[in-house]
Amino acid sequence: MSVAQFAVFGHPIAHSLSPQIHQDFARQFGIRLDYRGIDAAPDQFEVAVREFFANGGVGANVTLPHKAAACALADQRSEAATRAGVANVLTRLPDGRLGAHNTDGAGMVRDLTERHNMDLRGHDALLLGAGGAAQGVAWALLDAGVQTLTIVNRSPAAADALADAIGEPARAHTRYWEDLGEIGSYDLIIHATSAGVLHQPLSLPLSLVGARAFCYDLSYGEAAIGFLTWARAAGALHAYDGLGMLVETAADAFELWHGQRPDTAPVYQALRPQYG
Ligand code: ATR
Repeated sequence: MSVAQFAVFGHPIAHSLSPQIHQDFARQFGIRLDYRGIDAAPDQFEVAVREFFANGGVGANVTLPHKAAACALADQRSEAATRAGVANVLTRLPDGRLGAHNTDGAGMVRDLTERHNMDLRGHDALLLGAGGAAQGVAWALLDAGVQTLTIVNRSPAAADALADAIGEPARAHTRYWEDLGEIGSYDLIIHATSAGVLHQPLSLPLSLVGARAFCYDLSYGEAAIGFLTWARAAGALHAYDGLGMLVETAADAFELWHGQRPDTAPVYQALRPQYG
């Protein structure tokens, strides 16, 4: 009997943890699956995706830099994918068409609230970045009860576009990156720029970090070191990377594909020591 095929598309993809995470989940249920990383340059992404699904692929995760393209090429989009305009999961529907989902926001909120015991309700949150990663989590933060979301991006137009798309001016608004030193402090700071992934230095004023601040980077490993080092130097009470978010978003994709909810705790605990 052939084994169901899954994949993660990215560029680069060599260091993706998704194959290992999905195999660990599958073992919890005695499911056998084929899950591989597929490196596709942006101009090859759509062709590679269509080939994968035409050859029997069941589901795919999508990571940088393809999340917007994944959302665009799908035939159907979940509400989370529609409003974010980016997708991290593609699924072959029963009629052969492709469905897009975005599990980033829900996964991040679950990591924050359940793993790190953070009550998001009532917080004034600062979101650094307005690209695909930020778009994936902005609505989920508001849904989870943050009182206000201040979006700050190096290019103001992208921050304005995200705030406009959210369309709740009393809760979600923007400030200029150049003014970060003058906007006071926050007790919840979400870092969603790709500076760390791109090995670019991130220069942020220490004054942003409130006395009991919770600082969170959507990335993990080396990419998160710059932000987390800054957060600790600024006196943050908590500074966490997004490794738990990765495992939670993977669990949502796994449930979509297999109809069973994996236990994320042992998978997270097994990965944690490798990432500091
Ligand atoms: P991702 O899917 O990781 O969000 P993206 O959609 O390309 O990738 O968005 C990258 C985000 O990181 C953008 O918000 C970008 O800011 P600009 O819109 O001004 O480009 C931000 N970013 C990238 N490098 C940065 C840097 N060195 N300093 C600050 N922001 C940076």
